[in-house]
Amino acid sequence: MDIEAQKRAAGEAAIEFVDDKMIVGVGTGSTVKYFIDALAKIKQRIDGAVSSSEQSSKLLREHGIPVLDPNSVGEIPLYVDGADECDPHRCLIKGGGAALTREKILVAVAKKFVCIVDVHKCVEVLGKFPLPIEVIPMARSHVAREIVKRGGQPVWRQGCVTDNGNWILDVHGLQITDPVKLESEWNQIVGVVTVGVFAQRSADVVLVGDGRRFGRG
Ligand code: 5RP
Repeated sequence: MDIEAQKRAAGEAAIEFVDDKMIVGVGTGSTVKYFIDALAKIKQRIDGAVSSSEQSSKLLREHGIPVLDPNSVGEIPLYVDGADECDPHRCLIKGGGAALTREKILVAVAKKFVCIVDVHKCVEVLGKFPLPIEVIPMARSHVAREIVKRGGQPVWRQGCVTDNGNWILDVHGLQITDPVKLESEWNQIVGVVTVGVFAQRSADVVLVGDGRRFGRG
């Protein structure tokens, strides 16, 4: 199965987690796009969506799916999103699409987080994919220096402005053997908005495009 077919398979498989009258949390990226296409086919069954990016909100609206403000919906039953890397404990690197902060907010308010990936995203240890970090623009150099002290090689993703008006550093050269620790410690660096490690709250279920699935539920 080629990668595109795997992305589609994973995106379509996530539909089984959608119940009637749900407000569905929707992530960002090329895999999620297939989930949105599949969601559109059952849109009359759901009450609407909350979205992790302007890009996904636009797609949802084009399909006639109402996009709601997360502040007005409270806890959501389900959040579906892709990842850049996924380890055997369902810890993730996310943020390749620069939507990591809104993604982490939706993960935090979701009862169940279903992650959809193709087989190439599955790794033993996180870090080969450069770790995205969203930073306040005026803190870019400070955060970069702090990351170098911690053994990373930060590269400024030039030209990229997040939906929140911030910038992204992509950190190369990492082997993240303790993702919970790294997430917690690096989030404390002044000027960091969000570290793209999702480990303190990992995925509940991972659906791989080759048909494998792991996790709870
Ligand atoms: C966006 C993300 C995406 O989920 C991640 O980049 C995977 O994207 P794709 O499905 O296009 O490979 O974290 O910020």
